[in-house]
Amino acid sequence: MNPTSSKTQWSPDSWSRFETLQQPVYRDAAALKQAVDSLTALPPIVVSWEVDELKRRLGLAQRGEAFVLQGGDCAESLEDCESSHIVQQLKVLLQMSLVLVHGLRQPIIRVGRFAGQYAKPRSADTETKDGVTLPSYRGDIVNRAPFDAASREPDPQLLLRGYERAALTLNFVRALIDGGFTDLHHPELWDLEFMRHSSKYDEYKRIVDSLSDSMRFFESLTGRPVHDANKVDFYSSHEGLHLLYEQAQTRYISRCHQWYNLSTHMPWIGVRTAALNGGHVEYFRGIANPVGVKVGATAEPEYLAELIRTLNPTAEPGRLALIHRLGATKIDEALPRLIEAVRRSGQEVLWICDPMHGNTESTSTGVKTRRFDNILGELEAAFKIHHEMGSRLGGVHLELTGENVTECTGGARGLSDTDLARAYRSTVDPRLNFEQAIEVAMRISRHSSIAR
Ligand code: PEP
Ligand code: CO
Repeated sequence: MNPTSSKTQWSPDSWSRFETLQQPVYRDAAALKQAVDSLTALPPIVVSWEVDELKRRLGLAQRGEAFVLQGGDCAESLEDCESSHIVQQLKVLLQMSLVLVHGLRQPIIRVGRFAGQYAKPRSADTETKDGVTLPSYRGDIVNRAPFDAASREPDPQLLLRGYERAALTLNFVRALIDGGFTDLHHPELWDLEFMRHSSKYDEYKRIVDSLSDSMRFFESLTGRPVHDANKVDFYSSHEGLHLLYEQAQTRYISRCHQWYNLSTHMPWIGVRTAALNGGHVEYFRGIANPVGVKVGATAEPEYLAELIRTLNPTAEPGRLALIHRLGATKIDEALPRLIEAVRRSGQEVLWICDPMHGNTESTSTGVKTRRFDNILGELEAAFKIHHEMGSRLGGVHLELTGENVTECTGGARGLSDTDLARAYRSTVDPRLNFEQAIEVAMRISRHSSIAR
């Protein structure tokens, strides 16, 4: 069925009439129904006012008046829902955003890949090891990573565990913000213990000192605190992959006569599930949230034009972000085509660059990694190409962690393939560690003239 032809028939579960990829197969239909019913009755994690406010701000980014920093783990795990992990993620995003504010002289919209990033698309439904074949690990909301039959069996109860951890995570983030953790007067609270040993620390410290000076200057000039700048906001996002989970948290808000996905502020569609006639596009077209769609190098102009018409028929600013993830070797050829295709469709989108997912490779010993130079290379090319074509890159989408991991090679410490074993913790894709993340922010902030 063509999504646009059934426009009037949208409902939170109308996606189930379409081919829907990457969904787990549960053995016990009654247990699944019971879990989805419980999830449907539970309160939402976010509210529509926040979702609308994020959309308004993303509209500014689309117009060139703000910049989006979207980042976090590739996959959250239920175990990582603990205070130090969450604080470290906030710290690295806060630090990056200070660097970006300083360089770009624009408001930064912080969107975490957190509080619900529990479902993962996989290239194969099953995995075989030593002659044993089991279902692939699809993220902690579906099954568990260890390679044994019990762990790999999709468990409907994990939908509830994921919802609960997402709510606990966002509750803690909100409390930290309300309690003053993100107060710009105390950026020293955001220091990570190991960062003082970093070669990037001096540059970071200079940026922070200069921002603090400007704030004190303004406050002494006006005799008043900089109220609005006291606290910074965070929004949540995750891949809206598991459609029963997304559907259960979809609510009709009569104040706005619209449906919202209230499990997160900004869900996105992954590249593997973004087919026009698939269940994901059908589900996403009916919700009022700002949404992202990952776009790969093979996307055709007709596909993009129809995708935009389907997901943003009223050309609402901030509604649709195209997150291109092309790879350092393909971006020069692919991005101009994408920009041209969108232009020819007569629509506007918010462009975000994900320089991670097109640059995944395996080392000779089979470890998944990404080279820092390729990540930076794709990012630099994205800024340049958008600028040359009179378009505008409005944000970045990164997999990163505030922890001192060794998952991507390169960066200021020149990590090599052999360093990866030292602190490789991701269960799915390799993330930037905090030092590499700050370096990326510093690199982006040099683009002040063309980010506008
Ligand atoms: C991801 O963001 O973790 C992901 C799977 O990305 P993509 O859909 O772009 O491959
Ligand atoms: Co990933």
